[in-house]
Amino acid sequence: MIAADPILLNDWHAVAKVEDCPPGKILTTRLLGEDLVLWRPLDPQAPVQAWQDRCPHRGAPLSLGKVCDRTLACVYHGWEYDPTGKCVLIPPHPALEPPAGAQIKTYHCRERYGAVWVCLGTPSADVPPFPEWDEPNCLQILSEPIHGNASGFRLVEIGIDFTHFRYLHNQTECNPQVHEDFQVEMTTDGITVCERHFPDADSQGKRVTYTSTSSMKIPHPLRLYSYIEITQGPYKGRFAFLTAITPVEEEKSVQWSFTATNMDKAMLPQWLVFNQQVQQEDVWMAERLQPKRMPLIPPTDNKWPADLHVPSDRSSVTYRKWLKQIGVTYGVC
Ligand code: FES
Ligand SMILES: [Fe+2]
Repeated sequence: MIAADPILLNDWHAVAKVEDCPPGKILTTRLLGEDLVLWRPLDPQAPVQAWQDRCPHRGAPLSLGKVCDRTLACVYHGWEYDPTGKCVLIPPHPALEPPAGAQIKTYHCRERYGAVWVCLGTPSADVPPFPEWDEPNCLQILSEPIHGNASGFRLVEIGIDFTHFRYLHNQTECNPQVHEDFQVEMTTDGITVCERHFPDADSQGKRVTYTSTSSMKIPHPLRLYSYIEITQGPYKGRFAFLTAITPVEEEKSVQWSFTATNMDKAMLPQWLVFNQQVQQEDVWMAERLQPKRMPLIPPTDNKWPADLHVPSDRSSVTYRKWLKQIGVTYGVC
């Protein structure tokens, strides 16, 4: 039994790049504390499978096995399982009907935006929508996922924290003055942060100079959509980002970033390096915050002194209150 909130259990989480799951390949991953094996039969048309990484015979990790055409064979005694997770062959007894329990726990699995998405519970909706991904003439970018020893909520919070740019990303970005004009709204559909206008930024010798406007939405506890229009500088263009944080465990996460943009393709290699560096700095910071779990408002326990909030923290304050309201208990305190 996985001890996570239904809102996380019944949601889709990115767990691998599709390109890393060719026919015949076996991968392991971990989601909400559950070890998973991902594999694709040798048929290139066959979908990726996501299963509990445990053979019910003696408990061997199935990820140590091998793909035999359209079955996955366990490394220990060679029991073979078809794509529905049903045992179809017990080699020492080829004529024996496998026992009723010879069935692997399988999970919902989809391939979208270049990633493999898994739901451990009953999906409450489809894979997160990202319509901008399919707009004509846009660049579709799936960044390298970033692993961090941090609560996923810490990573989302950094994404909506507007006053850290100039400091945490000091070497990476030239960013705006601390600004006070953004509005935060909590509705039944989540949180919206809008009309964040950057004043003209001065370059100060940094690599990025721009003015822009943006808006953000958090429709789900571990998902952030950001829309930015950059009106000058090397990365001029419209950007839509889907940031999906995968909860590996309560204090371990993976940050997945999907970008759709009409920026100049020639600038892409440079932008990829820049974007990856900014994200790595965010994850680096999240890993070092104490407590490791996200303190809610009001807190769930009082082991740590309460964080201090000032007006420019209002997006993260709203996020913490919202997580409390919707009853999140996993990875928070
Ligand atoms: S443990 Fe898998 S076949 Fe025996
Ligand atoms: Fe950041």
